[in-house]
Amino acid sequence: MTNLRDTMFEEINIENSKIVIIDDSKTTVQVIKDILINKMNFNFQVFEAFDGIEGLELIKKICPDAVLLDIDMPRMNGLELCKILRNDESTQLTPIVIITGSDTVENKIIALKSGANDFISKTRVQNLDIVDIQLKIESLLKIKRLTDNLEKAENIIKSLAKAVEYKDYYTKGHADRVSNFGEIIAKKMHLDQELINDITLSGLLHDIGKIGVPDNILNKPDKLSAVEFEIIKRHPLIGEEICLPIKSFEKVREIIRHHHEKLNGTGYPDGLKGTEISLGSRIIAVADIYDALTSRRSYRNQISHENSIKILKESALKNEIDKEVVDVFLGYFEKS
Ligand SMILES: [Fe+2]
Repeated sequence: MTNLRDTMFEEINIENSKIVIIDDSKTTVQVIKDILINKMNFNFQVFEAFDGIEGLELIKKICPDAVLLDIDMPRMNGLELCKILRNDESTQLTPIVIITGSDTVENKIIALKSGANDFISKTRVQNLDIVDIQLKIESLLKIKRLTDNLEKAENIIKSLAKAVEYKDYYTKGHADRVSNFGEIIAKKMHLDQELINDITLSGLLHDIGKIGVPDNILNKPDKLSAVEFEIIKRHPLIGEEICLPIKSFEKVREIIRHHHEKLNGTGYPDGLKGTEISLGSRIIAVADIYDALTSRRSYRNQISHENSIKILKESALKNEIDKEVVDVFLGYFEKS
């Protein structure tokens, strides 16, 4: 995998990228195809379609790295196709370049609103003014490659979080449930969508650092010794470090680090107090504690929903967890 921090943009490898050209003018398709294959030295795999419907089928089949798209076409025009691609999870990040006959500001705005990334003027294509086309394609393909790598890195981290559950049999499904409860609370508190997403993801990843805790400590049926507990207490820091390479995980990293903090300052690793602990961390803490209580663990049987609720309320009274978050969470059970 490309190291995202060490690779210079100009060095990103775009060899063998798959590009789809969709235009009802066979001449235009041929000219662009010639530029991509013969004037650029990247061994591009170029595919062609001559209307929107045919183009959509082709895109679904080959998952291209970029799409060059005419606007006026039979059956489905380019703008409609653009919107469909942007609303589909598998193609929403695929670069789309509109090949336009009239590159007026109005047309560009319409195309941008439909989800296009850039434009190529048909006049430039016909005049073989290729530098502009080459630069645009190269740049978009490099951004696509970076996005792909980022997605791979995210998926690896999520897989790692799943692997943690295999280390500790009793925590199977815990991450999914904490994520689900966290999302429910965040939605009920009407937080903005970005924070809801971060909280949901943090729930999934909050214990990822347990990958660095020996199995015999994680699965110990007896009370942990002071030394063993100190080792367990490192997992929020290890988790934060695992997620460090992903820049977009900034908030998620913070929640992972602080999901064991307590409002009265007796938590770990930083002993934060009250609102020094972010709302996201306070939400995940409540979701985490509830699910831990209601699940069977290596050292105890599961606790009933009613008794778990009692424990949550007591913990809120001791100012360990956020009372408002607990109330919102309890409201969810009352209505469901
Ligand atoms: Fe934890």
